[in-house]
Amino acid sequence: MQIQEPMPKRADGTTMTPFEWMGGEPVVRALTDRFYDLMDLEPRFATLRGVHGSTLDNARDRLFWFLCGWLGGPQHYIERFGHPRLRARHLPFAIGVEERDQWLACMAQAMQDTGLPGGLQAFLNQQLYGTADWMRNQPEAPAAPVAGDGSGTT
Ligand code: HEM
Repeated sequence: MQIQEPMPKRADGTTMTPFEWMGGEPVVRALTDRFYDLMDLEPRFATLRGVHGSTLDNARDRLFWFLCGWLGGPQHYIERFGHPRLRARHLPFAIGVEERDQWLACMAQAMQDTGLPGGLQAFLNQQLYGTADWMRNQPEAPAAPVAGDGSGTT
């Protein structure tokens, strides 16, 4: 991930990764668990929940492994599965604007509930928008039809 300022510095003056700033694996695990708990519980994420299978157990582990590496920590996901090919892996699921926006809102809420530093939340929300939008594989809803024949005379 491309890291921009402001990120906190380590004692030696080098820049921390988001993974370190967050508090490492226990916090990434807590964030992932909160994300899927919210998805399971909150009616406003029902469309997103509906895209998933009956159990979220596999998804919990895989997103945790993926996020560790994506945030600049250990590459658990790549060690197990190779290159993430995330867009290809999401093609079996219909992902449109509504699913994307529910995923992002669910993650934003999980970050808040897990108590991530405010600056880190803002930075990650921005980075995740690009990733989630890239996963979209359904066209945006077509514009509502215009009344009349379009000539402006009817
Ligand atoms: C845009 C809306 C998204 C939807 C609707 C969605 C949905 C899903 C679904 C249904 C699965 C399969 C879960 C299972 O196997 O039980 C999945 C897997 C996964 N998702 Fe997403 N996802 C979205 C965005 C994202 C984003 C933004 C990321 C990363 C930042 C991500 C990371 C993953 C990972 C790592 C897996 C496991 C892939 C595998 O190894 O098969 N997803 N997602």
